[in-house]
Amino acid sequence: MIGFSRAAQQLVCDGVPLPAIAEAEGTPVYVYSAAVLRERYRAIDDAFGDYPHRLHYALKANSTLALARTLRELGSAADANSIWEIELARKAGFAPPDIVFTGVGKSPAELECAVPLGLKAINVESVGELARVEAIASRLGRTARVALRVNPDIDAKSHPHISTGLKINKFGLPLDDVRELFATIGTRPSLQLVAIHVHIGSQITTTEPLARSAALVRDLVGELRECGIALEYVDLGGGLGISYDGGAVPSAADYAAALLNEVRATGLPIVIEPGRAIVGPSGVLLSRVIDLKPRNADSDFAVLDAGMAELMRPALYGAYHSVEVVTPRPGQQRQYELVGPICESADVVARDRMLAPLAVGDLIAIRDAGAYGSAMASNYNRHPLPAEVLVDDGRWRVIRRRQSIDDMTLLES
Ligand SMILES: Cc1ncc(COP(=O)(O)O)c(C=O)c1O
Repeated sequence: MIGFSRAAQQLVCDGVPLPAIAEAEGTPVYVYSAAVLRERYRAIDDAFGDYPHRLHYALKANSTLALARTLRELGSAADANSIWEIELARKAGFAPPDIVFTGVGKSPAELECAVPLGLKAINVESVGELARVEAIASRLGRTARVALRVNPDIDAKSHPHISTGLKINKFGLPLDDVRELFATIGTRPSLQLVAIHVHIGSQITTTEPLARSAALVRDLVGELRECGIALEYVDLGGGLGISYDGGAVPSAADYAAALLNEVRATGLPIVIEPGRAIVGPSGVLLSRVIDLKPRNADSDFAVLDAGMAELMRPALYGAYHSVEVVTPRPGQQRQYELVGPICESADVVARDRMLAPLAVGDLIAIRDAGAYGSAMASNYNRHPLPAEVLVDDGRWRVIRRRQSIDDMTLLES
């Protein structure tokens, strides 16, 4: 049994009891299962079968080095969203030709560093950005490999804060701009157009919008061919959702089939940039109950030692995470509002949950916290960044130690 399961009533990760990790490392602590990480990567990779494809793991979901290295060892390439994620990717062993540089705002300094690296592509988001890349490449006497990120005006039907494919969103080039560029881009010697890119959002739970955006990319490939421009590949972004609440989500096979149905006719290799679907289910945030108090006639507050500083998603998007008592006590279930210790009323981890009766000191596992958890953690209220632990083959090790107050103030005078 891999991942998070129960053995003798206790929650374990790949056979390792979570209380043992909490005792040794303290809480809050992120705990990841290497087996789940590998399984999730392979499921998506296998779903594309023999069709030429490459997964570029989206580091923004979680760029803790040991996890990035684990994915590289499986054959993953990388999607980096800033020059610092590129540096991180290189520390994790990804070579520049295996990195795509995405992101809506690349500063002049970032582009200066990125252009000479020889990345697989810089995914360009505006006409101005394309000109800036071109100017740097021209000055350096290089040809920059670029992909055009199209804004397809397609609704991903995800949370508005993580939907990126509508015209009203800041992302990508409007279709009109893309088509205008087709006429001239082949004549610009410092630019090589290698791909069309699309990414319409995250936590997408039906294949329909993903298929529609893939179909648009296929049509654009055809238009480019008519202009005499042959691409190397198509980049269909990330976005595949996971089931946080037990609801239905597309399987890896459904997802791959939806994309392949649309782009197979192009014959071009597919790049995808999954983040959440790989790393999300591989991690929990382990925390302790540090206080209990009455809320109303039907429920109590359970104050945890982890909140929005460690896991921002519930406060930021009202995101749902299932929570489990690691070692449930006997007795009748009770309703709890699980809140964090941060000085904000938005710092609610989980609302109105029926759980075994809690006592101060009990351990709570916040499930599916591997993506956009530690990556978004902050020092708000001077909370140290939490420790992170990787369980692999029945053994566990610290892959990031808990930040100390000295770490936190190192850059201050
Ligand atoms: C350009 C790009 N690619 C890939 C991803 C990864 O998305 P997800 O984690 O939903 O797969 C994101 C995140 O939203 C993104 O902005």
